Amino acid sequence: MTYLDNAATTLIKPREVRSAVIRAMDTMTSPGRGGHPYAMRAAETAFKCREIAARMFNAENPEHVVFTANATMGLNIAVNSLLRRGDRVLVTGYEHNSVMRALEMRGADITVCPSELFEPESAVMAFDRRMTKDVKLAVVNHVSNVFGYILPAERIGKMCRERGIPYIVDASQSAGSVKVDFRALGAEFVAMPGHKGLYGPQGTGILLCGGRAKPLIAGGTGSGSASRKMPGWLPDMLEAGTHNTPGIAGLSAGLSFVEKTGRERILEHEKELIMTAAKGLGGIRNVTVYASEHGFAQAGVLSFSIRGMDSETAGEKLAGRGIAVRAGLHCSPEAHKTAGTFETGTVRLSVSAFTGKRDIYRLLSAVEDIAPKGGKG
Ligand code: ALA
Repeated sequence: MTYLDNAATTLIKPREVRSAVIRAMDTMTSPGRGGHPYAMRAAETAFKCREIAARMFNAENPEHVVFTANATMGLNIAVNSLLRRGDRVLVTGYEHNSVMRALEMRGADITVCPSELFEPESAVMAFDRRMTKDVKLAVVNHVSNVFGYILPAERIGKMCRERGIPYIVDASQSAGSVKVDFRALGAEFVAMPGHKGLYGPQGTGILLCGGRAKPLIAGGTGSGSASRKMPGWLPDMLEAGTHNTPGIAGLSAGLSFVEKTGRERILEHEKELIMTAAKGLGGIRNVTVYASEHGFAQAGVLSFSIRGMDSETAGEKLAGRGIAVRAGLHCSPEAHKTAGTFETGTVRLSVSAFTGKRDIYRLLSAVEDIAPKGGKG
């Protein structure tokens, strides 16, 4: 199978990730739960992972790196910490349901700031126009999981800081390839999954946390145990319950892989593949491609549609030809509404450090095969 669904989960991981998970299962228990070697090894592994993440994402210190089960959990902690029912919240026109539903469930008064695809300036202007005094929170999707569009998260963060508006960044599709600089973003929280561009296993995630945090759940932390209250310090206050030590060990190995390979190099590689795919798809009759010019403001994700063919059907046909892509609304109806693809959805391909040109050529020939041949093209 040609795997082009890395925006959902990177399937091919560095070999070290698998070994780290197995080693942790064989030799580690949980950080903070005992002074014996198994618990101590787990604590060292967790701390090392926090250290690498703090360095990679420019967090002030490793304690500001909180482990979560995925980006959704991180985003829910962030929203729960900052939002009060009825608060007015600004979001981009490209948010995932992990943001929209987390806000909706907590009674946010959501204002979408719609902007043109691949036009960062238009996103800045959309926020600027709506940043009135009653705005209590802003949330920005750093990279659209549907279109790969890189939004100007640092610039919007600067505007939030100037106006004293708390800020959350969803780095689900950026972490590991696009620059995520916690301090430059100036966000209260940055949430990311471990299982996509950081090459960790599913069930892992990181929340970068700058303070003002509120626990989402309560329970044992292995610290301050005499009290019925959750500890007031990071990361413990947000990490109730036994840690996913094998997952954290794998995530640590994934982070090391990204660090060693170089985030910029990974992005460059992914961009080249996406541009090749965009050019090839653009040349196929009856295919519409949603790509930016010369790869501007676009990461390793690309959407397209086939005229007269439902996107889910196209996805199934491609799967039947050995190509794994994702099709439909990708849990991001907002992005499709903004881009005008809500009725049909899109077919999405997404690449990783392990994707090669050959994978793209296989996709192109399969699309050529399934696309209708007639019409004006
Ligand atoms: N959010 C993930 C995706 O875009 C699951 O596929």
